[in-house]
Amino acid sequence: MPPPILRRSNSKQIREHRRIYSNYSLGFQLLGLCMICISVLLTIYELSSDGNVGVGNGALQMDDLARAKGQWSSLRSNVLQEQDLEKRNQEEKVQSIQMTETFESEMGANAAPHLLSKKSQGVNKNVFSSSSTSPTIGQKLLGFLGPWISSSEIEPLDMPGKSATEEEVIGCEKDDSSFISRSEVPRVFSKCWEPPKQCGTVEEMGSVAVGDTRAASLRLRDMIKTWMLDHGAETIRNLPGLEFCERKFVMGLASEDGFGNNMYKVLSGAGLALMLNRSLIIGERGANTPSYIGDPRNIVLPFGDYIVYSNQFFSMQEVKHLWAVHDCAGKHNRRMTMRVDDIEHGPGRSNSLCDDWTTIPDTVLWFKGTVDTVGLQFLLKNRNAAVRSAAAMVLGHPAYPSSRPNTFGELLRAFITPTRDIQAAVEWALKGGAEPDFAVHLRLRHNRSLDAPMAASRCLAHIAQAMQQTSRGKQRVVIISDTPEVFSDINEQLQDNTELIRFDYKEYLNKFKNLSEVMSLHYGQPPRSKMRDWGEMPRWVSLVDFFLAARARVAVISGASERICTTYAQLVGALAAATTLSDSEDSPPPCLLYSSFQRDLLAQGLMKQSGWGHAWRTFGGKLACKNQASQCARTPLLPFAWWDAPWQSPTTRDTLKMRNMGIQVDDVGNIAETSLDNFCDHRRLKPTVYNSKLPAY
Ligand SMILES: *[C@@H]1O[C@H](CO)[C@@H](O)[C@H](O)[C@H]1NC(C)=O
Ligand SMILES: *[C@@H]1O[C@H](CO)[C@@H](O)[C@H](O)[C@H]1NC(C)=O
Ligand SMILES: *[C@@H]1O[C@H](CO)[C@@H](O)[C@H](O)[C@H]1NC(C)=O
Repeated sequence: MPPPILRRSNSKQIREHRRIYSNYSLGFQLLGLCMICISVLLTIYELSSDGNVGVGNGALQMDDLARAKGQWSSLRSNVLQEQDLEKRNQEEKVQSIQMTETFESEMGANAAPHLLSKKSQGVNKNVFSSSSTSPTIGQKLLGFLGPWISSSEIEPLDMPGKSATEEEVIGCEKDDSSFISRSEVPRVFSKCWEPPKQCGTVEEMGSVAVGDTRAASLRLRDMIKTWMLDHGAETIRNLPGLEFCERKFVMGLASEDGFGNNMYKVLSGAGLALMLNRSLIIGERGANTPSYIGDPRNIVLPFGDYIVYSNQFFSMQEVKHLWAVHDCAGKHNRRMTMRVDDIEHGPGRSNSLCDDWTTIPDTVLWFKGTVDTVGLQFLLKNRNAAVRSAAAMVLGHPAYPSSRPNTFGELLRAFITPTRDIQAAVEWALKGGAEPDFAVHLRLRHNRSLDAPMAASRCLAHIAQAMQQTSRGKQRVVIISDTPEVFSDINEQLQDNTELIRFDYKEYLNKFKNLSEVMSLHYGQPPRSKMRDWGEMPRWVSLVDFFLAARARVAVISGASERICTTYAQLVGALAAATTLSDSEDSPPPCLLYSSFQRDLLAQGLMKQSGWGHAWRTFGGKLACKNQASQCARTPLLPFAWWDAPWQSPTTRDTLKMRNMGIQVDDVGNIAETSLDNFCDHRRLKPTVYNSKLPAY
């Protein structure tokens, strides 16, 4: 309808027209308002789904601890619902603040443009989408509402027909730890595994998913040893000029936010260096800035107050110094360049699925934003067979649980030890007794329900009972939690023959007046902006807890009020397993990782365990039974990133998320290879490469 034309001659007509006009403008205003609302919703959705900052976030633990302290006292008393509501609102706000600060601390001066580009990046992703239709608002809204819409409303995928290829034959072999040494890793598999029934329980899923990874882990351990001889800093820094200048590096860089996520960033760097036969730089503060030169007397490494890194790594300062000393650019025509690949917001801005990383010429490669095991595992779906097989050497074959080593545990064991200060605190907590048998990690986030602690106690009792025949005496159990008041509750649940161990930092501080500065009440305080939420809890306590819990010999149990087995708990389990894995044949079995689920969390199957980086994310789809009972499930040490192994199926939300990137996944996790190809064919992403500034020499 053409817009009404206003005429002055007829006043009645004018009024009529004005009325129409004002109706129109009201309509437009409402429309505008709607669009603002939708874009706000979408922004919230993107923030909540992409960042994944909260996973296993030790920093959040601090915040939880502080909050919990005040709140636990009112645990069983009645609390007004309004208060609850207000707290939740506050939490949401805090979450977004924390995300902002994570980016800032990592990006330094680049923080602002980075944050601003977050939204436009969402658009970019879709430009590359294989269906070549950029998503309409409706589709985006669907993405947002995904979790609440039943899967039947989503049209079925158009999977390309597969002929019986050699891949398929390989795919049907039984789970075998030596698989990768025998053949190339295909990019997608047609699953020959048929679910024996309509749905599985967590325990059933876990028992198949864990495999027997002993051989694979020992193989990786050897590989790390060889890598250290060939590429470790102790060798490389003594090489003569030309040889040094021909070397390449991977940088692992982390901020000091949550321990789990940030340790994954460092370890993913180490894993990538291992994959690509490059040396490792552990990025000190500032190392991401091209103009950084650094001062050898002032190298600040991530968590460097509490962690000692193996001497097989470089700092950026040292590499730049050596590059200048050997005059690599002048004499050998090798400029020092750094290539940045960013997986922080999914593969949209990353080349990890498409480019051949084994031939990248740049001096330093920085795979940025690898806050969990997923980032590195993207390389298992890379277009180039060379990258896939290099990735599989470190990560195993995604369809064969037994071939998947305890990658991050072995890397932790090889690269990281606690400082003497932390070590002393751990020993104090152990009170000179035997090594603990169990560790229980309870991430409660000040939830007042006792369901999680009770489920964890049952899980513990269950495992302890099974091993009772083989051992005598008291079981020693380490409990770590963001909510210390839970200790007495769990103590009540435990049997007489268990001894509870915990690190009581207040008692420790009271007892020892001679502690070093980094272990004081006031050191490592959260920034002022977070003070209100994090309280006075010193952040080093979560590191003592980490190394204390990782001493467990028999089992690490993860319990939580929401997500089970966060990145922090994953790494506790991984380190405990690596520490207890011995290559002698008659040694006791290594420490196992368990997830304890209370009934509530399983009402909708494992759907609630969504969120990249969570151990059970890839089991969240339709193959998980609904309304399961409370359970105690074996858990893979290396969480899966794809849906290739038995019992795995994506949630509707993950399917949509992948499809928004142009990658098609059906409801049992089959990926359409053509969509991966399309994704790579249609991208116009130029790699980000910096020229590094070198010191004058
Ligand atoms: C790394 O080096 C090893 C041993 O020299 C070799 O077998 C492997 O293929 C190399 N990997 C890559 C990705 O170049
Ligand atoms: C503090 O004193 C205790 C003895 O009370 C001693 O064992 C410990 O080594 C001292 N710690 C430091 C950091 O000096
Ligand atoms: C606390 O945990 C219980 C049991 O896990 C769950 O039912 C409840 O919804 C949680 N409450 C909140 C506020 O998250």
